[in-house]
Amino acid sequence: SGLITLDPGYKNTGSCESAITYLDGEQGILRYRGYSIEELAEKADFLEVAYLLIFGELPTKQELDKFHYDIKERSEVDEDMKRILDSFPRNAHPMGILSSLTSALTAFDPKSVNVNSREDMYNAIVGLMGKFPVLAAWTLRKMRSKPYDYGDSSLGYVENITKMMFKKPNEEYKMNPVIVNSLDKLLILHADHEQNCSTSTVRIVGSSHAGLFASISGGVSALWGPLHGGANQAVIEMLEAIKADGGDTKRYMAKAKDKDDPFRLMGFGHRVYKNFDPRARIIKKAADEVLADLGVVDPVLDIAKGLEREALEDEYFVQRKLYPNVDFYSGIIYRALGIPTEMFTVMFALGRLPGWIAQWREMRLRKEPIGRPRQIYVGENARSFVDIDKR
Ligand code: CMC
Repeated sequence: SGLITLDPGYKNTGSCESAITYLDGEQGILRYRGYSIEELAEKADFLEVAYLLIFGELPTKQELDKFHYDIKERSEVDEDMKRILDSFPRNAHPMGILSSLTSALTAFDPKSVNVNSREDMYNAIVGLMGKFPVLAAWTLRKMRSKPYDYGDSSLGYVENITKMMFKKPNEEYKMNPVIVNSLDKLLILHADHEQNCSTSTVRIVGSSHAGLFASISGGVSALWGPLHGGANQAVIEMLEAIKADGGDTKRYMAKAKDKDDPFRLMGFGHRVYKNFDPRARIIKKAADEVLADLGVVDPVLDIAKGLEREALEDEYFVQRKLYPNVDFYSGIIYRALGIPTEMFTVMFALGRLPGWIAQWREMRLRKEPIGRPRQIYVGENARSFVDIDKR
């Protein structure tokens, strides 16, 4: 064990070489394939960004059309999947359902596990890009006891997601461009973030040559936790609790600083960003715009802004370089769009899907070895077995 370096949480260990996402935590820079997140959020749409992340270049119009066509062609989910979905209790957490259904896709497409060529890989990728939003939307429908919707192949990728989630059974679907545009932007901002917890999970699962669907299912489970993607749900729950408490932000600040209290200020801090999270800046502005556009007044937004102001002036937070992260303001937008709190992390997963896929594909194409960290053993030395009646 003398040769093994211990690095809990892999704070200083690079696990791979990657050409997908560049992140400079000191300067708050984030780029996908060399393009700044600010520019992509402003000018690109989510499917273009997905293509860019997965294949490395911005698509031409033809390439994008073909990608979208192939996704739509493979978006049909087997009817039997509905029976699996129906058997979950209604109050089951949507992330647990999504992870299970994603894994279950393998059962209906066992060939997807064998990726012996670029074509096999492409088919698995477009299959998942097509089916994953269907599963996510159906999960929301199930929570609300609404009939499942199959989407509409004439719609754009993100537009179709909003239709599958929100269309009422007996009404023609009218898309609200404010909702579609803000969702598009949010999904772009979440699309990749190099070797974060869920992405590392996808790579590790995939490194054993388990299939793409099983690997992504592992990623969904990792994303679920409140220290990672689950923070967006936790933020809103925290802000609501503060509101119910009469807006007493000071009390929550004190709890977050108290080392005997496990409470953390949700939506603050980041493993890599130690200056600011560039995504949080874009999202904060988008939250203001969406609320104004939709004419929504959300008192929770004022609490969020107050909390941010206090934290940025507080010695504890300043010293530890804790700034609002991507999850701090996203929930306020999701709420304004009518998405239930428990679904927030599912929205994050919809955005992160192309990043997970791109990282899995890169790992497989680079023929990376199985992920298998070492340890430093600190247990008992060798000892003799004691029979049960002598213990
Ligand atoms: N509230 C209070 N104290 C905090 C917080 C917080 N949100 N975050 C970190 N700290 C303190 C922590 O107690 C430690 O203090 P000390 O040095 O006195 O022991 C110091 O700051 C460093 O924290 P750490 O836990 O060593 O940092 P990390 O890099 O391991 O953790 C983190 C990063 C994001 C898990 C953590 O900041 C956190 O738990 N934040 C709240 C949850 C959250 O918002 N997660 C979303 C992250 S961004 C998007 C995503 O990944 O999904």
